[in-house]
Amino acid sequence: MIAKSMVGYVKGSSVIRAMFEEGKRLAKIYGAENVYDFSLGNPSVEPPKQVREAMIDILQNENQNLVHGYMSNAGYEDVRDTIAKSLNKKFGTSFAEKNILMTVGAAGGLNVIFKTLLDPEDEVITFSPFFGEYRNYVANYGGKLVVVPPSEDFIPRPEMLAAAVTKKTKALIINNPNNPTGVVYSEEVIKSLMDVLRDKQKEFGTSIYLIADEPYRELAYDGIEVPYLTKYYDNTIVGYSYSKSLSLPGERIGYLVMPDELDDFENIVQAASVANRILGFVNAPSLMQRTVARCVDAEVDVAAYNANRELLYGNLIDMGYECIKPQGAFYMFVKAFEEDDKAFCAKAKEFNLLLVPGSTFGGPGYVRIAYCVDPEMIKRSLPAFKKLSECYGK
Ligand SMILES: Cc1ncc(COP(=O)(O)O)c(C=O)c1O
Repeated sequence: MIAKSMVGYVKGSSVIRAMFEEGKRLAKIYGAENVYDFSLGNPSVEPPKQVREAMIDILQNENQNLVHGYMSNAGYEDVRDTIAKSLNKKFGTSFAEKNILMTVGAAGGLNVIFKTLLDPEDEVITFSPFFGEYRNYVANYGGKLVVVPPSEDFIPRPEMLAAAVTKKTKALIINNPNNPTGVVYSEEVIKSLMDVLRDKQKEFGTSIYLIADEPYRELAYDGIEVPYLTKYYDNTIVGYSYSKSLSLPGERIGYLVMPDELDDFENIVQAASVANRILGFVNAPSLMQRTVARCVDAEVDVAAYNANRELLYGNLIDMGYECIKPQGAFYMFVKAFEEDDKAFCAKAKEFNLLLVPGSTFGGPGYVRIAYCVDPEMIKRSLPAFKKLSECYGK
């Protein structure tokens, strides 16, 4: 018998994953060429060549016991030092090795920080639509996810945040650039939100931590600036991942940044390291730690995602679809042509188009299109999008 708590998780098990499986099934029937799978955020652009070169060099030339051995639960000291220095160079911060904890991707990092911070019934606020796994990660530690409803443009409003904060609010989690909408919150938006958090900390005499979930930081278009949040609010913890920025999602590597300015800094750093261990991660993958430290300046070909964005966005708008033009990540959040986004996705599937219902992200009435795909697939899919729109009289 499985645990009662798992029954619900299994039932609600990721719609996106189910879509992925459905894609494979349809490909068998219709041929892979004729299925247009926009369901999964799996990078389509290859990792930069520095990654492979670094791995080979590490395997050939570094001490193999050190490369594959246990290390401090927070990660290799030299790797953390390299990452801290690289952040300082990029963002004018003053981090050191002690501020960095290497994690098993962003997912591992978020679980570590929630384990570190949350007592049962503590509240974590997020803005809708949001990465659906937040609900599970918060529930893992008995916390409660409080969802702020979306605005028309998917940009959070300070007054709506203010209305959601209570004495029990332990954290706000922000994902910028955003999955699923692709919007990027500007410095002005961030400042207005941080003013709210500061006021509420004073009002309630509590510490409210900002968790900046940033796997898409480098995927931003048209030269748009993605603010580095530790500059705007002292109680900020950054969760970073190389899953998208270096196209390494299967390698499970990322880090947390915990600045000196955090309330209860010493305890948080120590507890996060213990959390990394007792959650069973023990430490982030060793070869990958050593690899990313050599690739701090490497970049994937963001221009390829940008070309996909322009191609798909332009065509969908011409066909009558409604969507805010994404400025980052590799997703579009498109209005469904009927209220029921699940029914709309079922209709799309009749044309072999695999889209994810917005309700998965707390954004009903929309669908998410992941455009981290082969551009040829986008071109082949356009007649299917056209037929779908025609079904709704567009
Ligand atoms: C917003 C967001 N946060 C976290 C993650 C988890 O990323 P990782 O592969 O680094 O665990 C994802 C993955 O898609 C994501 O979209």
